[in-house]
Amino acid sequence: MGKIRLDKFLADMGLGTRSEVKKEIKKGSIQVNGMTVKNPEYKIDTGKDQVTAKGQQVSYAELEYYMLNKPAGVVSATEDKREKTVVDLITEKRRKDLFPVGRLDKDTEGLLLITNDGALAHELLSPRKHVDKTYFVKVKEPVSTEHVKLLETGVDIGEEKLTLPGKISRMAPERTSLCLTIREGKFHQIKRMFQAVDNEVLYLKRLSMGTLELDENLEPGAYRPLTQEEIKRLKEHAGKQKSSDI
Ligand code: URA
Repeated sequence: MGKIRLDKFLADMGLGTRSEVKKEIKKGSIQVNGMTVKNPEYKIDTGKDQVTAKGQQVSYAELEYYMLNKPAGVVSATEDKREKTVVDLITEKRRKDLFPVGRLDKDTEGLLLITNDGALAHELLSPRKHVDKTYFVKVKEPVSTEHVKLLETGVDIGEEKLTLPGKISRMAPERTSLCLTIREGKFHQIKRMFQAVDNEVLYLKRLSMGTLELDENLEPGAYRPLTQEEIKRLKEHAGKQKSSDI
């Protein structure tokens, strides 16, 4: 918690653009601790000061964390002129600077963390940190034992090096649906890994990222804030993951 300018405080909390909130401040619509403040540069102590806008209290949220069950058909971006984005789905957000931690393809569903915690995002996404991501995958052709071995050893997806070993679990008896855990996050990685073994992904859903697991109660398109416990465990896990050269 620290001190920030009144206009930034209000803009961060989504009350308008910086110039819109400046106008409101100058009009006398904003009170700090019960006194009207007309100077946009007035410094607010976010831990102490009570700010009201047109009589409504505006409390400060520094960092926000949401778990979204991304539906298919929505892009993993913050803003898009034509398409609906994952951040647009977080309708109750307080801050304007939220972004998705990593990208899921437009047709992929499942767990996406939406936050404005850049440091945590960096830890979770760093290729050197090897944070596990588990996906439920449906593929066109049954996955042979030989292909399981290849996916669990490393396959050529056209990058400089083979993929790091994946881990396959929960293989269905007909061998066309399974869970795959990977530690990297290359563009279209799972789709390319199955292409490398002459198969095709028909459906993809992310189930977990590090210690964070998709809440089964969230329908596609639904979200909820992370619990304090989930935030704590995720930070501990991301911080602890060993850095290494790939
Ligand atoms: N791998 C893919 O191919 N797509 C995703 O969205 C995520 C992982």
